[in-house]
Amino acid sequence: MNLLLKFIFLFLITQLSKIDCWDIKSCDANPSCKFNETFLSQDTSQNFPKNCSTVCGIVLINGTTDLSVEQLTELFKNMRILVGGLHIRNTTFENLRFLAGLRRFVADYTRYPIYDAQLRITYNRELRELGLLNLTTIKSSVVDIFRNEKLEKLNLPKLEIAKFLGNYTIQFLMGYDKYPKFCIETQVLDALTRRRNQCDLVVNSDICIPENAPNVCTVPTVGCQRLIGNLNITKGFDVRKVESLKRLYGTLNITNTDFTDFRFLGNLTHIFQLEYAVALYVVGNKNLKNMEFPKLRVL
Ligand SMILES: *[C@@H]1O[C@H](CO)[C@@H](O)[C@H](O)[C@H]1NC(C)=O
Ligand SMILES: *[C@@H]1O[C@H](CO)[C@@H](O)[C@H](O)[C@H]1NC(C)=O
Ligand SMILES: *[C@@H]1O[C@H](CO)[C@@H](O)[C@H](O)[C@H]1NC(C)=O
Ligand SMILES: *[C@@H]1O[C@H](CO)[C@@H](O)[C@H](O)[C@H]1NC(C)=O
Ligand SMILES: *[C@@H]1O[C@H](CO)[C@@H](O)[C@H](O)[C@H]1NC(C)=O
Ligand SMILES: *[C@@H]1O[C@H](CO)[C@@H](O)[C@H](O)[C@H]1NC(C)=O
Ligand SMILES: *[C@@H]1O[C@H](CO)[C@@H](O)[C@H](O)[C@H]1NC(C)=O
Ligand SMILES: *[C@@H]1O[C@H](CO)[C@@H](O)[C@H](O)[C@H]1NC(C)=O
Ligand SMILES: *[C@@H]1O[C@H](CO)[C@@H](O)[C@H](O)[C@H]1NC(C)=O
Repeated sequence: MNLLLKFIFLFLITQLSKIDCWDIKSCDANPSCKFNETFLSQDTSQNFPKNCSTVCGIVLINGTTDLSVEQLTELFKNMRILVGGLHIRNTTFENLRFLAGLRRFVADYTRYPIYDAQLRITYNRELRELGLLNLTTIKSSVVDIFRNEKLEKLNLPKLEIAKFLGNYTIQFLMGYDKYPKFCIETQVLDALTRRRNQCDLVVNSDICIPENAPNVCTVPTVGCQRLIGNLNITKGFDVRKVESLKRLYGTLNITNTDFTDFRFLGNLTHIFQLEYAVALYVVGNKNLKNMEFPKLRVL
């Protein structure tokens, strides 16, 4: 029985990785859907494969791009999948909703240099949100969202899968200093840290506190499943407040308690610690016999 499950699992993994290849191979099959330029302008947009739902190539939009939001919206109207690279820098757009139809981004490092085969959104000084409203999947070695000084949120409401290829880093470093208005959505963090995802997450920001979200809290509360904030557990702490906790977006600090084990954190699977702080801190718990966290997977 166990063996059978393993086979099914392996089969699924193989099938999933074939989907990537399929995206990339479809570029060989449809040369007319290749964007042979890189830099996008009035001139080069004549060569953009407007009718293709899968477009292959590197797309660069920058401050010299002389296309309006309306023209870009029209240009990308049919594009559902982009295989290659996407660079948006030094523009004055407030959002990237002209790419709202995009569902998948797949970096093609088999065909392009690694520097080109990336998703980079940098130095866009008026950008308030990404607003890639239909984007479900990012497969890339590097995602760099950097120095967009007015960015307030990502707004990638459908992002489910962010898969990182190779030993690279995903950077959501917003700048050298924190931008006070920016926060990252827990749903995006969850997508980035799915099982089997190996990525170094560099996020220099706060986490958005969702409004009216069920089972989310900022201080430990009975029934809370996702706590946004630090969790300090000291002597006399009421463990019922964390028994249903699944995800902690902050530091777990267990100091000077009388607990013999951490079974009361039996539902905790993820601790997210942004910036370079300590995620887990366990000190002076004299009676502690078993330091296992029953279900903890990601730190
Ligand atoms: C891009 O170039 C390839 C060959 O270099 C050609 O087959 C294809 O038609 C070109 N694509 C477009 C949209 O012009
Ligand atoms: C794209 O589609 C439009 C409308 O269906 C058609 O008029 C046009 O010729 C097509 N362009 C190309 C390059 O196939
Ligand atoms: C945009 O990219 C083009 C092509 O690489 C370059 O010639 C131009 O200087 C760039 N513009 C800006 C503002 O960086
Ligand atoms: C952005 O473009 C302006 C000119 O349009 C240029 O002076 C500036 O250096 C560019 N900034 C970056 C970070 O590329
Ligand atoms: C995004 O997806 C929704 C639902 O699938 C669809 O109704 C909407 O038209 C899409 N937006 C764009 C810009 O394609
Ligand atoms: C990633 O790095 C580790 C250790 O540095 C190395 O063993 C592994 O082969 C690397 N994997 C890839 C895909 O480069
Ligand atoms: C947890 O303890 C630290 C250090 O004592 C303190 O700065 C922080 O405010 C505490 N957080 C909570 C949520 O009590
Ligand atoms: C952990 O909590 C203890 C007691 O509240 C505090 O003294 C210590 O500074 C905290 N450590 C961290 C890393 O927050
Ligand atoms: C985990 O949560 C469920 C439902 O919230 C609860 O019934 C169960 O007792 C919790 N497990 C532990 C170890 O506290």
